[in-house]
Amino acid sequence: MSAEGAAAGLEPSVASLQLSLLPARRDDLPAILRLEEEGFAPDERWSERSWAGELLGQGRTVLLARGAQPAGVVALSTVGELADLHRVVVAPTHRRQGVGLRLVRAGLLAVRHAGARAVMLEVEWTNEAATALYARLGFEQLHVRRDYYGPGRHALIMKLYDLETWPGRFAEAVRDTETDLAAERTGFEPSAEPAPEPEEAP
Ligand SMILES: CC(C)(COP(=O)(O)OP(=O)(O)OC[C@H]1O[C@@H](n2cnc3c(N)ncnc32)[C@H](O)[C@@H]1OP(=O)(O)O)[C@@H](O)C(=O)NCCC(=O)NCCS
Repeated sequence: MSAEGAAAGLEPSVASLQLSLLPARRDDLPAILRLEEEGFAPDERWSERSWAGELLGQGRTVLLARGAQPAGVVALSTVGELADLHRVVVAPTHRRQGVGLRLVRAGLLAVRHAGARAVMLEVEWTNEAATALYARLGFEQLHVRRDYYGPGRHALIMKLYDLETWPGRFAEAVRDTETDLAAERTGFEPSAEPAPEPEEAP
């Protein structure tokens, strides 16, 4: 790692992309909505209200990969010992460079820090990029929710069973990200502001 990267506490390839992974703030909302527009078809996009709920809600963790332009965002929630991975999106210009992997990894560390012991998510079964990413980090398929996103659009429910001992046998997948701990260093305090009601399913 370069001296600059080491000084910034960044993992090498994230440092070479000049990105850092840090908690998102309320004023990051426009940038997050741009990522959302780039990442999802119009009928799959979350609204501004939904993202505001993620940013302001109790027990939420939202991390932004910050660079010259925000390159990606991940959102999770924690209730007791169970966390939910709600969303991850990486700008098309930054894909296949490990940004998604590092964002989700940092999110998992943050929710573990908040007390989570397992993590659930749902993902459309045709979303190969996301399912491969989640499987690589240790998520296993729990079941299929048929037609969850519409006719023929099934959801895979995936679970990371043991966050306490994670990454365990998945250490290899995350081995080269281990100094990338902006989230863990920062810690996450749930916002005191009340969350708006979510208006749509993730
Ligand atoms: C899913 C997504 C976040 C992945 O982000 P990314 O930064 O490109 O992912 P990474 O570079 O960290 O990839 C890590 C691993 O995931 C898997 N992966 C990522 N993209 C993949 C693809 N298009 N096809 C197959 N596997 C893929 C690979 O195992 C990859 O490792 P490798 O590059 O060494 O082969 C990104 O494609 C995206 O933003 N998609 C649109 C939004 C979305 O569908 N989000 C998920 C549902 S909320």
